[in-house]
Amino acid sequence: MLKQASTTIHVHKPEKAISQIEAVLSRQNIESALEISVKILRQSFDHYDWVGIYLVKGEMLELAAYDGESETEHVRIPIGQGICGAAAREGHTILVPDVNKDPRYLACFASTRSEIVIPIFGKDTVLGEIDIDSDKPSAFDDEDQETLEGVARMLAHKIESK
Ligand code: SME
Repeated sequence: MLKQASTTIHVHKPEKAISQIEAVLSRQNIESALEISVKILRQSFDHYDWVGIYLVKGEMLELAAYDGESETEHVRIPIGQGICGAAAREGHTILVPDVNKDPRYLACFASTRSEIVIPIFGKDTVLGEIDIDSDKPSAFDDEDQETLEGVARMLAHKIESK
């Protein structure tokens, strides 16, 4: 009998997503550009269940745009708190393969199993970050990190030029 493969196959469409986001960033104002970018990311990758962009305002991260089934209660996160706050304070991408095993995790959705947070770097500071939750465990890999760090660099140009 033919055995079913147990590996999960992720749908990755990074090139298309990046060119769509590039076009949006060149044509739209910052608010619309962020709103459309989170939608493009969520629609382009089947393991991205909730996509948000937070912007740094003083000592806080404030949710500027999101796309997902539900709203999060974490619309303002102090820098240093949660996975989001840790990525902003430490200034590097954080991948969490199992959110239930990370004591920093601030729970938003019961279905979330893994998370990736990518800082958006300005010249000298962190301007904000992309936060993505997946309902699949260990959903994010190096390819996601590379793609999303590229998107974060594009967003940084737009945020700095506003
Ligand atoms: N889980 C995040 C909080 C934001 S929600 O995922 C939308 C954290 O631990 O910082």
